[in-house]
Amino acid sequence: MTDTRSLAACTDAVILVGGKGTRLRPLTNTIPKPMLPVAGYPFLQHLLARIREAGMTHVVLGTSFKAEFFEEFFGDGHDLGLEIEYVVEDQPLGTGGGIRNVLDHLRHERAMVFNGDVLGGTDLEAVLRTHVDNDAEVTLHLLQVADPRAFGCVPTDADGRVTDFLEKTEDPPTDQINAGCYVFQRSVIAEIPADKVVSVEREVFPALLERDARVYGHVDQAYWRDLGTPADFVRGSSDLVRGIAPSPLIAGRHGEALVDPSAGVAGGVLLLGGTVVGRGAEIGAGARVDTSVILEGVVIEPGATVERCVIAAGARIGARAQLTDAVVGEGAVIGARCELIGGARVWPGVQIPDGGLRFSPDI
Ligand code: GTP
Repeated sequence: MTDTRSLAACTDAVILVGGKGTRLRPLTNTIPKPMLPVAGYPFLQHLLARIREAGMTHVVLGTSFKAEFFEEFFGDGHDLGLEIEYVVEDQPLGTGGGIRNVLDHLRHERAMVFNGDVLGGTDLEAVLRTHVDNDAEVTLHLLQVADPRAFGCVPTDADGRVTDFLEKTEDPPTDQINAGCYVFQRSVIAEIPADKVVSVEREVFPALLERDARVYGHVDQAYWRDLGTPADFVRGSSDLVRGIAPSPLIAGRHGEALVDPSAGVAGGVLLLGGTVVGRGAEIGAGARVDTSVILEGVVIEPGATVERCVIAAGARIGARAQLTDAVVGEGAVIGARCELIGGARVWPGVQIPDGGLRFSPDI
């Protein structure tokens, strides 16, 4: 049997973090998606901690959009017990082009590639073992889900070998979806055309099947969530705080809320559903905050209700305002008694006066 610890130690970790994160605007206007705080840490830090825990130590980040943020925050990775390198695409090269672009920085014959916005609980060592035991060229982490219709599906044969890559369909022939985590032999990465926009899902994988490459699936039902939309972002953060999603960074600190010690929480405040309250935030008396991400320096005035929302740094929510499923950008001001519902996105710095936006006729 293969020693998985040594397998991980001989595997490079590659993380794709170059996307624009358009679905999370305006949060991603100023901060790249993987650097947005989730459960009190930049999302990427949770992934890096899981990579370290699995035994990989050399990490290459494929960056493009707002590339400088990553190195400024993580440096050479020493504090996390990692060696981190940064490779910048001047023009975004897509997921396949991004993987090809890090080739010269790989140290081993095998690389584990992660989408930088997936919160996962899968056993990374087990994925590596599946790859090696099958002598695969590429192994995909495949997730079994109850409703695969919203995803591309990846059927496998009795030996676990991938037989097809299917686009979204109303009638999927399998419940296995591509979870955005792959193991690649270095030789396969070298086959991807250089300096060109290439999609790993739509071009690289189908081309591998075409040439009958050894492509396998590692199937499980681990925790998995793509944090690409505001709804998934708040759910993912809440799942981390409540211990539903695993992260070595908050082991032993799970509960209904994660409150920074410098935040001020008045009497009679209800913090529920895995809410996070960031540094220096102030929550006024009688406010109710449920399943939400409250970032640094936010002020929530007395009696306000905030449910399934992201409130960006320095924003202010007025007294008795009611916000549900909304995103409030940095420094925005929502006046007292305003009502924001279902998918509202307030751009940074916008000021809505007291009672200035309602969905019901009474104030
Ligand atoms: P949306 O614009 O909201 O769709 O988000 P996105 O730009 O992040 O795209 P998507 O969620 O499909 O990307 C999946 C993963 O691949 C994310 O971790 C992105 O950061 C990453 N990614 C997407 N495009 C590129 C690219 O051109 N280069 C690199 N290096 N990474 C990319």
